[in-house]
Amino acid sequence: MNDATAQSVRRAHVTGWGRYAPAQVLTNADLEKMVDTSDEWIRTRTGIRERRVAAANETTASMGAVAALRALHTAGLQPDDVDLILLATLTPDYWMPATAALVKEAIGNTRATAFDVMAACSGFVYGFATAQAYIQAGLAKHVLVIGSELLTRFLDYTDRSTCILFGDGAGAVVLSASDEPGGALGVEMTTEPQGAYMIWLPAGGSKSPPSAETISRGEHYVRMEGNQTYRFATKTMATTALESIRRSGLEPSDVDLFIPHQANVRIIEAVAKGLDLPMDKMFINLDRYGNTSAASVPIALAEAVNEGCVKVGDNVTIVAFGAGFTSGAVTIEWTADPSRGLTADEAVRPEDVAVRLPIDWDSVDPIPDALAALMTQPGTVDVPLDDVAPGEPEHAHPPAGVGA
Ligand code: ACO
Repeated sequence: MNDATAQSVRRAHVTGWGRYAPAQVLTNADLEKMVDTSDEWIRTRTGIRERRVAAANETTASMGAVAALRALHTAGLQPDDVDLILLATLTPDYWMPATAALVKEAIGNTRATAFDVMAACSGFVYGFATAQAYIQAGLAKHVLVIGSELLTRFLDYTDRSTCILFGDGAGAVVLSASDEPGGALGVEMTTEPQGAYMIWLPAGGSKSPPSAETISRGEHYVRMEGNQTYRFATKTMATTALESIRRSGLEPSDVDLFIPHQANVRIIEAVAKGLDLPMDKMFINLDRYGNTSAASVPIALAEAVNEGCVKVGDNVTIVAFGAGFTSGAVTIEWTADPSRGLTADEAVRPEDVAVRLPIDWDSVDPIPDALAALMTQPGTVDVPLDDVAPGEPEHAHPPAGVGA
């Protein structure tokens, strides 16, 4: 490659990031009132202490729009600067249209192509890699990649093996084309369909359309074989991350921070062990949000940068696994000023963002009965976030405002 060609290589740099978490907190103590579980069991087996629950007027699109506008604020861009909007979710507002189309309107963009990416918890990383490919091919200059999930409406609050794991939220990044070195480097994505029925939602699709019978069988809820999923996750997160790092011309020891999918702190510990890395290279916030599926990596990335865990020149690897089974990783040489995101939450308030509703139609109350009953009970027991349960895995990063 001659110099002229080398200079014209388009790279995808992260220029904006933002996240949104609904205000309502559902603690392990709250879950003790619904299913036969305990705060100690959840904390020692998963590391999760609490998760967020979207309010009745919130949707995947509304949360995604807030995170997207915050990412645009961080990037210093206007909505119409965006050419492509990719929204990763397994909990869309509707089967059709794509939730990305609703977000496009809500953020005030008039010109972008917008579509959803469905790869379960790996969806954001798949979307990120797709955005990188669009930019490198010269098809887009600024791309919004959003992960937004409203999982609490798809959980069976009588099934203790799933309902304790998941929560709601949204995160977003802006990827921008540049000839400068750095930005998104090596990508690895895998799909292993032998795990297709290890995490799935049986009814509602063409194989089993929704009916009174599918609902009476509870087939509109997430089902999971936890042990099989755990085994897949520990193996694939390490191998997928390693492949992405090597494709970037790096070794694991060159990576300054990993942003892993926030499913279970024991899975993250196994990944650190597999890559022979200390836990302080793994960013963790699952104690406060649980597993937010496609939203987990962008929420964690935005928090890691805003908390000062990433600086210009750092190598950061984002890595996720999910239903499918899918996995994905991208290694990024960070180039943006980390302080740019600090005013985004103040600048974009959820009450100022609206998703247009259809005319002459109103949804039924979307909050599951078990959850709605609990939410109206005052005085839930608060477990302090710095209180450690016996056997609870050690966290690499204490929650903001907690501990030293
Ligand atoms: N509270 C108390 N006991 C429980 C609970 C609970 N919430 N859930 C299960 N148990 C019981 C089980 O019934 C079992 O009891 P038994 O021994 O009497 O039969 C016992 O605890 C052990 O159950 P295991 O399933 O073996 O527990 P494990 O240590 O494997 O932890 C867990 C379960 C946390 C689900 C773990 O397997 C896991 O994290 N798996 C990965 C799940 C995941 O990440 N899913 C998301 C995928 S991403 C996506 O695309 C959506």
